[in-house]
Amino acid sequence: MTLKKGVIFSGIQPSGTIHVGNYLGAIRNWVALLPEYEGIFCIVDYHAITVPYDPAAMQERIFDAAVVNISCGLDPGKCSLFVQSEVPEHTELAWILNCITPIGELERMTQFKTKSEQHRDSVNMGLLDYPVLQAADILLYKAVAVPVGEDQAQHLELSREIARKFNRRFGDFFPEPATLFSETLKVLGVDGKSKMSKSMGNDIGILADPKEVWERLRISVTDENRKRRQDPGDPAVCNVFTMHKGFSRAGDLAIIQAGCRNATLGCVDCKKILRDRIEELVAPFREKAAELRANPALVRGVLAEGAARCRKIAQKTMEQVRSRIGLR
Ligand code: TRP
Repeated sequence: MTLKKGVIFSGIQPSGTIHVGNYLGAIRNWVALLPEYEGIFCIVDYHAITVPYDPAAMQERIFDAAVVNISCGLDPGKCSLFVQSEVPEHTELAWILNCITPIGELERMTQFKTKSEQHRDSVNMGLLDYPVLQAADILLYKAVAVPVGEDQAQHLELSREIARKFNRRFGDFFPEPATLFSETLKVLGVDGKSKMSKSMGNDIGILADPKEVWERLRISVTDENRKRRQDPGDPAVCNVFTMHKGFSRAGDLAIIQAGCRNATLGCVDCKKILRDRIEELVAPFREKAAELRANPALVRGVLAEGAARCRKIAQKTMEQVRSRIGLR
């Protein structure tokens, strides 16, 4: 039916804020893969409830995640976007995969250890089982590749291991999903030290209004050895230059690099150029987001359509899985 190379699948945490790092590290790469692959993107609400959360805020978080992802380029005409809990086969397959996954494998997952530390009084089964649900997400659509950040490498390794275990036990069925690392740029936060992240409070929101983006850029740390305007700087150690690599054209990059090295370009001017490049790109995204927020029925329609399409695939996989494992 399709001439594409197969399905790529990725999971999106339900949160309505997307920062420069998320955009450059995830969405932009997903969009770039769509001509080659069939894209399936899932807002993972079942994953989100493994840590403490506010039930009253969940629907809004899901809606926001849909709005920002569509606005930033996940065109529903070119891929499927849906909410995990609307396709119950995800949890059904997770149960079956649970029965072939050794507990030891789950206990050694770094993310499980970190999250258990963070939420000491709610270390629940779901948190331990998180990677199995993630494997189910991917295998349900027989995805051939999963574009994720490096932090998901261990989970993906386990997904492949689970696919192999299933295939050995019940006959060749699931393709082993490859990891497509999508973090081409190591974008740090405004502190210029740790990875950009909302929870660290060092992020620059991609859909924030231009004033706010500038406020964040203005305080962003550059080459710390460049103390005065007349000192030469080193773009190689400057996080603002890393962001330029994500947003500016090759020709401009060469000019910026040279200007920084010979001190003809100051950090503030360099940041102003970056601000303008970001604004050029995201102004249409912001408009799209406003349009979608004003028309929630449209967004719900996109999610419903995505779920219907994915449910069909998921149901077919589950029929085959049940029959292979000796259930009806
Ligand atoms: N665990 C992923 C994250 O934290 C989200 C996720 C859930 C996912 N299911 C997935 C990613 C399947 C890739 C494939 O970002």
